[in-house]
Amino acid sequence: MASRPPALLDGFGRAARKLRVSVTDRCDLRCVYCMPERPVWLPRAELLSYEELARLAAVAASRGVTQVRVTGGEPLIRRDVHRFVALLKAVPGLAEVAMTTNGTRLAAQAAALKAAGLDRVTVSLDSLDAGTYRAMARVDGLSDTLAGLDAAEAAGFGPIKVNCVVMRGVNDSQVADLAAWGRRTGRELRFIEFMPLEGDAIWDRSLMVPASEIAAAVIARFAAVERPGAAHSTSVSYDYADGRGSFAVIAPVTRAFCADCDRVRVTADGTFRTCLFAERGADLRGPLRAGAGDAELALIMADAVSRKGPGHLIGLPGFHRPDRAMNAIGG
Ligand code: 5AD
Ligand code: SF4
Repeated sequence: MASRPPALLDGFGRAARKLRVSVTDRCDLRCVYCMPERPVWLPRAELLSYEELARLAAVAASRGVTQVRVTGGEPLIRRDVHRFVALLKAVPGLAEVAMTTNGTRLAAQAAALKAAGLDRVTVSLDSLDAGTYRAMARVDGLSDTLAGLDAAEAAGFGPIKVNCVVMRGVNDSQVADLAAWGRRTGRELRFIEFMPLEGDAIWDRSLMVPASEIAAAVIARFAAVERPGAAHSTSVSYDYADGRGSFAVIAPVTRAFCADCDRVRVTADGTFRTCLFAERGADLRGPLRAGAGDAELALIMADAVSRKGPGHLIGLPGFHRPDRAMNAIGG
C-alpha cells in the first residue's frame, strides 16, 4: 500500500478532520451576533474561485480531512454555489459535504444542491417570531427561511438541524417554543451560546445564556435526557423522553470543547485558520496564485496546524478578539 502522508496534527495530539470553507463574507442578513451594521466586504479580486477553493479542500483531504462544510457569510449568496458542491463531491477522500445557510434563498436552490450531491444542510434560525427575527437579523427574512426549510425537505434533505444563537433579553424566552416547533416538524434545534465574534463588539457575558440554562428551559417543558457524549462532538444532545426526537446545546463559552477540536477553516480570500478565535490566519492565496504545488500548500497547512493553540480564552483576561468578524471567518 502506498504510504499516506501524515495527518494535519497539532502539538496537543489533535488531528484536523473537518474543514469549513467560506465562499463569501457577504450576507443578505445582518445578524447582530455576526456582522457589523456597516460591513466592509473583502475585495472581490481577493476571493478565491471555486476551482481554487476546491483545490485547497483536496490538499486538506490528502492530509486526512474527511468532511467539508460550506459556509459564508451566506453561501447561497454566491452565484451557482451548487457548482462548488459538485467540485467538492469529486474530491477523493471527502466522505461528506455539508452546508450551513440562513435559508432565505434555499427554496430556489435546494433541488440544485441536492442534485450536486450536497449531503446535509443546516439552517440558522433564531426565532419564529417575525419581530424577534428582525431584531436579530436586522432584516425581515422569517418567511423566506421557513420556505427554505420546507423546500429543502421536499428536495430530500432531512432531518434538518436548525442552529439558534440564544441572546439574553432577545430570544431567550422563546427557547422552549422553538423546541416545540422542532418536535412538531421533525427538525433538531441546536441552541448555541453567543460567542464574542460579532462585528460591533457588543458581546458581554451577561448577553450570553449558558447552555445549562437553555437545556433547563427546554426540559421544563418537555422531559429529556442527556445522551452520552460522542468523541469530537461540539454539542451535547438531549433525547426527549417521549421518543419524539432530540435537541442539542453548543457551549463554546461555558464548556469549551477546544480539547476535542478537529476543525480548520479556509476563508473566502484563502486564509487558513486553525481556530475560530485565531488572531490571524496563514495566507494560502498568495502561494496558490504564485504557482505553489500541492505539497507546498500542504506544508503551509501543516505548519499552521502545528502551531495551533490549546484553545480560546473567552471571558478571561488573556482573550483577544480575532482580526475579523464571524461573517469573514465562516461559521
Ligand atoms: N456566537 C454564536 N454563534 C454564532 N454564529 C454566528 N455568529 C455567532 C456568534 N457570535 C452561528 C450562526 C450560524 C453558525 C454558522 O454560526 O448562527 O448558525
Ligand atoms: Fe449572515 Fe449567518 Fe452572519 Fe447572520 S450569522 S449575518 S445569516 S452570515
